[in-house]
Parts: sequence; C-alpha cells; structure tokens
Amino acid sequence: MRYLIFVFYLTIVFITPCQDIKPPIDNLTQTDTLGIYDTDLLSASFHEQKRKALRTFMPDNSMAIFYSGVNMVRSNDVDFEFHQDPNFYYLTGLNEPNSILVLFKNPYLFNNDSINELLLIKERNPSSEIWVGKKLGVKGSKLVLKVQKSYNIDDFNFQNLDFSKFDSIFIHDNFNLSNEVISSKMDISNVDSLTKDLKKSKVNSTQLYNWMAQLREIKSNEELILLKKAIAITCDAQTELMKVLKPEMKEYQAEAVIEAVFKINGAEYPGYPSIVGAAENSCILHYTTNRKTMKGNHLLLSDVGAEYHGYTADVTRTIPVDGTYSEEEKIIYNIVLEAQEKAIQACRVGNPFYITNTIATTVISQKLQELGIIKSPFEIRRYFMHGTSHYLGLDVHDPGTGGAFQANTVITVEPGIYIKEGSPCDPKWWNIGVRIEDDILITDGDPENLSDCVPRTVEDIEEMMKKNPSLFKDF
Ligand code: GLY
Ligand code: MN
Ligand code: MN
Repeated sequence: MRYLIFVFYLTIVFITPCQDIKPPIDNLTQTDTLGIYDTDLLSASFHEQKRKALRTFMPDNSMAIFYSGVNMVRSNDVDFEFHQDPNFYYLTGLNEPNSILVLFKNPYLFNNDSINELLLIKERNPSSEIWVGKKLGVKGSKLVLKVQKSYNIDDFNFQNLDFSKFDSIFIHDNFNLSNEVISSKMDISNVDSLTKDLKKSKVNSTQLYNWMAQLREIKSNEELILLKKAIAITCDAQTELMKVLKPEMKEYQAEAVIEAVFKINGAEYPGYPSIVGAAENSCILHYTTNRKTMKGNHLLLSDVGAEYHGYTADVTRTIPVDGTYSEEEKIIYNIVLEAQEKAIQACRVGNPFYITNTIATTVISQKLQELGIIKSPFEIRRYFMHGTSHYLGLDVHDPGTGGAFQANTVITVEPGIYIKEGSPCDPKWWNIGVRIEDDILITDGDPENLSDCVPRTVEDIEEMMKKNPSLFKDF
C-alpha cells in the first residue's frame, strides 16, 4: 500500500506537469462554504457579537492580535488532524490554519476605510484544493464569516499596520509560545516582518487571556445547543457501552464502542483522548493506553466526551465489567456518588467556584475515615488527588474566571477515589478507582445536570447493563 501511494505521488509530482493543474475556482456561494454538510454551526452574528464584546474590554488606542491554530507535523509529510484554536474559533468561526484576526478598539483608518477588525487569511489555491478540498479564501471569508475586511495574508504588508501608533497591543498566545515561535509555525510568506515589528512594540498577552475567559465562561444559547448535543451524544455512547461491556473485551474495544457512537451521531472527534481504564488502570487519572483485556471482576472507568462543532462533553462512569458491583466497589462507588450529589446541589449562582471541591472533599474524607482507609483528613489527597470542577465548552478544561458561579455557566462535578495496589489500607480495597463526572448547567434556579441521560446509581447501572445493545448487537 505504501508503495502504491509512493507511485501515485511520483505520478503526480513528476509525470503530470504540476503547474498546469489549475482547475477554475468556481464562484463561491454561501452554501459552497458554510453549511454544505452542517446547518447548525454557530452563526456569523454570534462571532461578530463576541468580537464586539471583546472590544468593549480593550482600552483606547489598542489593538488585539489572534493567531489561528497551526498545522502540526505528525511525521514526515503527514500532519496531525487540524484543530482550530478555540479563542480564534470563538471570535471568527473560521476553521483554517495560517490566519490572523486583528481587532482595533477605535475605528482605524486603513486603505481609506475606517475599520475595527480585519482578517488575514490564505487565498484559495487550485493546486492544493485538488488534495484538500475547498477553502474559504478572501472572498469566502467575507461572504461567510462577515468580518469587516479580509485580505490575503501572503500579500499583506504588516508595516501598513504601523504598530508604533498603538498604546498597547494585546496578543493571544495560543500555545504559551512566544510570538516568534507561533509565527514561525505558520505557513505565511511574510510572517517575518510581522514578528520583527511586534518585537519593537509594547505587547501584552495576559490581559487578553483574562478577557476571553470572562467571555467564554458564560455560554450563549447558541453555544448551549451545541454543548447539550455533545453531551447527549456522550450519554448515548456511555449507555451503549454499559449494554455491550463483557469480560474478555479489550479496553480499546470499549473505546471503539464509545467513539463509534460519537461518529455515528455526528460528533467530529473525541474532545480529548478517551480514558478507558479497567482494574489498576482505573486508578490512573488520565490513562489513555487502553490495551488491557478486561476480566469479570474488574471495574472499568470511562471518562469520555464527544466534540460536536467544537464543543466538548466530559462524562465519566465507572462500571463493573460483568455487570455487578462487588460489595467493596459498591461502598466506594456510593461514597463518590454522595460526594458528587452534594456538590452538584451547591452549583448555584453566587456560590464560590471552589465550593464543589470543599463539599466533595469533606464527604470523601469523612467516609474514608469511617472505613479506616485514612486516619486523618490530611491523608485525603492520597486517594482523591484532583480538583472537583472545571469549566466546559470549546475546551474540555475551558477558561473561566474561577469567581462566584454565574448563570449559563457549564462546569463538571467529578469527585473520585483511587486506591491503587500497595496503598496503606486493607488490600480488599486495592485497584478500585471510581470517578463519577457530570456536566452541570448553572441556572438562575436549580442546577441542571445535562448528563443525567446516562445511569449513575449502582442500581440503575446494573439494570442498564442487563439490556441488549442497540448498535453493537453482535459484539
Ligand atoms: N476528562 C478530563 C477531566 O475530566 O478533566
Ligand atoms: Mn473533567
Ligand atoms: Mn473527564
């Protein structure tokens, strides 16, 4: 197969005169570029409103620069699957690399136009479109994304932006890399001049991060629709796994069931590498090897999330491979469940962000002391070593302020107990790792558990595990 691909490659490169491959680029229409396949993406006006909102935070006479994500080499001439930088996506809706968004606080006179935003984007390229399909290009970006001005990034003279005129320049540092490193990863012919000019300017990146966190913490209705869809798909996947799971399956087969349900339901990817760990692997917080053969007496922890149009779910269930929890597993499971339920009840407007962790830690600490697994509350971090909540959205660990809860925020509540082999307690508890994670919408009233669509109690899980699979009947 490799050989065939190589021959094909040689044919294209050496036998066919590459320069002659210039099929005409058809006239773009809105349906060519957006919504050919998906009609439920965030609207152009959503992104426009977010750009406007960001500009209200910026001080007078300032500009903000956002880099898109970059293509990352996986090996040789194969890239990792491209994933847009979430801040860039939030502000533009563009899903392509090698682009820059510039926002101006005050109207800026540019090419005789007074503008407050401009998008620099790669122009369409017929030769490359043979391989990778249609891109938006300058015209498409104006038509679809509705940014005020778009220019071909390769032709753009960055000196026209006269950075010295601005009191402050805010740069979005998407990979915690220096501006120079980000620019060097972009496939843009004139990026060097941008890097040089910015080096001479007063640049600040922390403030932009904080403003974006404030904006992204509160979800608009359009975002909630997508997030709820990602969560519903994830519930379907977890439920299907409960029905399919049986002894002698491999962890990766459980992962395959989960991710097949994601794809079948239209989720583009998992929002993060699926964590599917049985027995001792249930005690590894971000385990992703997923190769073990599961036995009937194992507990399986699956922490997974579908990503739907950029928004990711994050739901964990811990289930017995043979469909029945042992007495010890049940005891630990019910402690985690009680901690989670009490913490969820505290997800109310005005409560501090850390309250879920305080509540979950208190419950787990008391109960583990009663069982003699720990002797004092100070030992709790041996068995519950992570935080209880994070924001959820375009990123699985979404940015937010960490301040008092506000309505229309989505957070996870995910306490856990992980007792690895060799822990200083009765060996009957060893290799029990339990995490229960749900996605909670904070409202003006009661908290809403968006992932309640998948069973969570011992009884409901055992009941679901008796049912026949819906999709994987012959697994
Ligand atoms: N899935 C990673 C986490 O729960 O934070
Ligand atoms: Mn989480
Ligand atoms: Mn998780």
